[in-house]
Amino acid sequence: MERPLRILTVIGARPQIIKAAAISRAIATSFPDRIEETLLHTGQHYDANMSQVFFDELGIPRADVELGVGSGGHGVQTARMIEGIEQELKNGDHDVVLLYGDTNSTLAGAVAASKLHIPVAHVEAGLRSFNKRMPEEINRIICDHCSTWLFCPTSTAVENLGREGFSPDTSAAPDVDRPHVLLCGDVMYDNSMHFAALASERSTLLKDLRLTAGDYALVTVHRDHNTDVPERLNAIVGALIALHDTHKLPLVLPVHPRTRKCFEQFLDPSLRNALTARPSIHLIPPAGFLDMIALERDARLVLTDSGGVQKEAFFFGRPCVILRPETEWVELVEHGQAVLADADPSRIAEAAAHFLTNGAPPCPSIFGDGHAAERICAELLRYR
Ligand code: UD1
Ligand code: UDP
Repeated sequence: MERPLRILTVIGARPQIIKAAAISRAIATSFPDRIEETLLHTGQHYDANMSQVFFDELGIPRADVELGVGSGGHGVQTARMIEGIEQELKNGDHDVVLLYGDTNSTLAGAVAASKLHIPVAHVEAGLRSFNKRMPEEINRIICDHCSTWLFCPTSTAVENLGREGFSPDTSAAPDVDRPHVLLCGDVMYDNSMHFAALASERSTLLKDLRLTAGDYALVTVHRDHNTDVPERLNAIVGALIALHDTHKLPLVLPVHPRTRKCFEQFLDPSLRNALTARPSIHLIPPAGFLDMIALERDARLVLTDSGGVQKEAFFFGRPCVILRPETEWVELVEHGQAVLADADPSRIAEAAAHFLTNGAPPCPSIFGDGHAAERICAELLRYR
């Protein structure tokens, strides 16, 4: 019998651990004898509520290799990851390196694997913000251009790659110089659908916080461009407090560790007091995925600079104010379910008031059929 395809999956940041759950699940249920997955965790995220909680909740097997790289500047962090991944690739016998998204862990995997001539499969390929000041934009462009399989979640992503010279031809076996660009749907959609029932069963967060479904806004902020620029951070927090006070709308903020540190460092004392003194503004630690889905599904409004949270709001038909000047998920804005408000208090107030009055328009199904992960596995096996 043919030996299984050996995949090294590189994860490190919270959203990658969550995304990996979809493919690990597809391997276990549909391809247990044909694919053997080794999980390498770079250690980019390491707090229990940024990493371990997702392994526990989402049924992901424990990481086989832990690099324990931790935090640091881009150069130090990425270099340590490249060194560790390269070592694992030299020691192992991996056929494919599977990478998710656009973090420093993605970049490190792309550089290490492609220089050792091990084919890279990139999940969430082709997304572009067209803003190269974002570290993520650099990471995703480099990763796409080192990849042999580019698994696109949307047709916009496929079109973006076409404009960068990628050919739509998939007639010959894929190779790094003849990569395959494939529209496969979104593994995050797979996950949201798969875990929604479990979230209803297990999450008690709304009850614990004494929140009423449909009567609060969910807020996440973690982009360096928002957290590390004091004027922007203060503008966003000022806008959130105004939203709460004007509409008597409770807010829930699961606070990313970067943001927690920046609140301490950069927030004006008056805003910090305002944020912590109001009993219906709930600053909570980063949430587990089941709690997060429950919070998203029952929110009246979502305000976020997260890529994943924007999309999950859409999956659950919730309106979203995007706290960024642009988005890679342009479909959400085109369909009127999300509005770009940047860190501008008047745009945030206007977009929020619009959605509080009108709700969200219907959200069409544009992220696949909930089986993106199976499709990705099948493609990886196609030319064996
Ligand atoms: C990273 C990704 C970003 C992604 C986000 C998901 C890059 C360049 N950025 O941003 O694309 O949207 O993850 O959440 O890869 N920290 C802790 N505990 C942790 C992890 C981080 O305290 O477990 C703190 C550290 O002070 C660290 C800071 O958060 O310096 C930022 O972490 P880092 O992984 O560098 O970037 P993120 O902002 O999390
Ligand atoms: N998420 C979570 N708990 C939180 C915040 C986010 O489980 O407190 C999940 C969210 O549901 C989504 C993913 O993490 O699946 C998004 O990750 P994040 O916002 O950190 O990064 P991004 O998607 O912007 O890269």
